[in-house]
Amino acid sequence: MSAHGTPIPMTSHRCGPLKGVAEVPGDKSISHRSLILGAMAVGETKITGLLEGEDVLDTAKAMQAFGAEVTNHGGGEWSVFGVGVGGFAEPDNVIDCGNSGTGVRLIMGTMATSPISVTFTGDASLNSRPMARVTDPLALFGAQTVGRKGGRLPMTIVGAADPVPVRYVVPVPSAQVKSAVLLAGLNAPGETVVVEKEATRDHSERMLAGFGADITVEETDEGRVITLKGQPELKPQSIIVPRDPSSAAFPVCAALITEGSDVLVPNIGLNPTRAGLYFTLQDMGADLTFENMREEGGEPVADLRAKYSPNMKGIEVPPSRAASMIDEYPVLSVVASFATGKTMMAGVKELRVKESDRIDAMAKGLRANGVTVDEGEDWWSVEGLGIDGVPGGESCDSVLDHRIAMSFMVMGMGSQKAVSVNDGSPIATSFPIFESLMGNLGARLTRDNH
Ligand code: S3P
Repeated sequence: MSAHGTPIPMTSHRCGPLKGVAEVPGDKSISHRSLILGAMAVGETKITGLLEGEDVLDTAKAMQAFGAEVTNHGGGEWSVFGVGVGGFAEPDNVIDCGNSGTGVRLIMGTMATSPISVTFTGDASLNSRPMARVTDPLALFGAQTVGRKGGRLPMTIVGAADPVPVRYVVPVPSAQVKSAVLLAGLNAPGETVVVEKEATRDHSERMLAGFGADITVEETDEGRVITLKGQPELKPQSIIVPRDPSSAAFPVCAALITEGSDVLVPNIGLNPTRAGLYFTLQDMGADLTFENMREEGGEPVADLRAKYSPNMKGIEVPPSRAASMIDEYPVLSVVASFATGKTMMAGVKELRVKESDRIDAMAKGLRANGVTVDEGEDWWSVEGLGIDGVPGGESCDSVLDHRIAMSFMVMGMGSQKAVSVNDGSPIATSFPIFESLMGNLGARLTRDNH
């Protein structure tokens, strides 16, 4: 169960066609950053289309605890009165980030260069995830950390009273680590430099520039070199949050595997650092079209149409694409089950340290439902059974992971027999309207024992 609820067993029954417009919620990554940067600006930031999922609501509460004024005006309209870079107050209580790795890691970055002490905790999933990847670089600024064995939450961070700027080469492809270092660099004097060998989502860089920070990005032989000048005055912004391509993946993939489907997802963010799934699906033969490509609020946006695609083929997903679709491998593995031939997904070690070990969780559930999966430490492969070939019929463990729960719900929409999960409650962390949205398109989802 999630930090906020009791377990909700759910079942997805074969359905089709799925038809209509899927207005998926706002982007989770951009929503967290809007609240956090809004809290570090001086004055009122206005946000339209904020994702009102549990993860983001926990970040909103955290920003309030640090002294920012966060107001929900209804209908996805929010405002944040920021306290300025270096203006965070010490919270009176523990900061509970629920299920959210992005929330906790970014917030750790924001407070690590202020002279305050903060204790962080989360749900069972978050408290089992590695934090050293963030606290190691934060220590270079002068922050101190006391956590549980293996660098796990609950954890207290004592921010640096006299922070120094750092130069940090990110050892794993992680936008959360990159962003934590950049956010810490905001309140350090001089220039903080972050180098990433593989490009990861660049919302922090784009948004910091939008808020008026002096930030440059250079492509070099060493990788992407990001340089941020510390102690700027951030200017409040009006932000329109695009719809989340990672949430859009669920109705899109469901449409591909259910007969007669035709689903339009308007206004989805198609930042190239996020769009890898859609290119991969096209490579597999999916009927996807991008309409009205445009730019909104500094992010590329389009309307995406997905139609039933009965002749998809398994492919080798280029490892170079992994960072741009890291959250989408679970649902891709479901689509791969309905393609013909093998889909190979390599270079994906990071999947083992997400809200769950996503390779393990998907492999177990896919196998239980009749699909052959092979796996190694940093790769896995799925043997496709063709569009009508997936048996289904079994229940899967969603292991406190929203994307695992939604992926198995998509699987049930196309498999011969229904597919269940023991707990759908984590879906509310990122996609609180999942059941109603999918139901309106024509999916048959039921809550069991209720
Ligand atoms: C995110 C970065 C990714 C992604 C997560 C959101 C972000 O995590 O999986 O859902 O908003 O920065 P990593 O940084 O661990 O790759």
